[in-house]
Amino acid sequence: MRNAIKDIQDKKDHGQKITMLTAYDYQIASLADDSGIDMILVGDSLANVVMGLDSTKEVGMEEMLHHARAVTRAVKKAMVVADMPFGAYQTNTGQAATQAKRFIHEAGCDAVKIEWFDDCLAVLAAIIKEGIPVMGHVGLTPQTVEDLGGYKVQGREQESAEKIIEQARSLEYNGCFSLVLECIPQELGEIITNILHIPTISCGAGVFCDGQVLVTNDMLGLTIRHTPKFVKPYADLKDRIMEGMLAYRKEVEAGLFPDDAHSYHLEPQVKERLREKYPNDKGRLV
Ligand code: KIV
Repeated sequence: MRNAIKDIQDKKDHGQKITMLTAYDYQIASLADDSGIDMILVGDSLANVVMGLDSTKEVGMEEMLHHARAVTRAVKKAMVVADMPFGAYQTNTGQAATQAKRFIHEAGCDAVKIEWFDDCLAVLAAIIKEGIPVMGHVGLTPQTVEDLGGYKVQGREQESAEKIIEQARSLEYNGCFSLVLECIPQELGEIITNILHIPTISCGAGVFCDGQVLVTNDMLGLTIRHTPKFVKPYADLKDRIMEGMLAYRKEVEAGLFPDDAHSYHLEPQVKERLREKYPNDKGRLV
């Protein structure tokens, strides 16, 4: 059985940290699940990480569903949360609810995540009315990054900090089961975590949040582009992969791979008969 809202809330209530990572495919989702991660996010960071796009706004519903299905095929224990992609929920509440349902019914996800924007509370209400758990996302919200002055720490000043606190409170009040706090000062993360009853998940919001999420590819040292200050690499997969690929290329070029241990063989009589029937005479075929 996958983790439910109660399991996640119980962790906050018992002072236990909640762990979350992104996944976009079957293999990484299997490993994350086996490692005991509590929640797996099919993030719209798919756009940057997997598809090489510049903005999360460029990923659409069909791509998100495709990857969400691969993830849910693998996950047995973690709660699977899917990001509602830009354009799938901002325009009207009916469309938002319809698209959210697709993540549950067509892709087997357990919940969806929405980023804060001006009319997000109406959207939140429409999705919750369908019985779908919603995670909120405040602070640096990449889908509206242009309105926030770019990719930079949010809520450093009194006024902007209060704005984020009020957004967090209203998302809790209107039914979110948890909130991602992205790229805000640690002290603000602590204040929000202490005010809210629902769990806060830090993504560059410091150690006092109830849990932590990172983009898995960043955390494994796989990312080719810039990684933010709040990312800690726990492995150096980029270097390891490059070592493997270079070694493979060299062995193939030198005729060392495939060797006997990685090849199949004919029975000697079959080989002989085939050789007689098909002599090594390339010229004949021309
Ligand atoms: O899309 C994503 O990966 C996210 C996390 C950074 C929280 O929203």
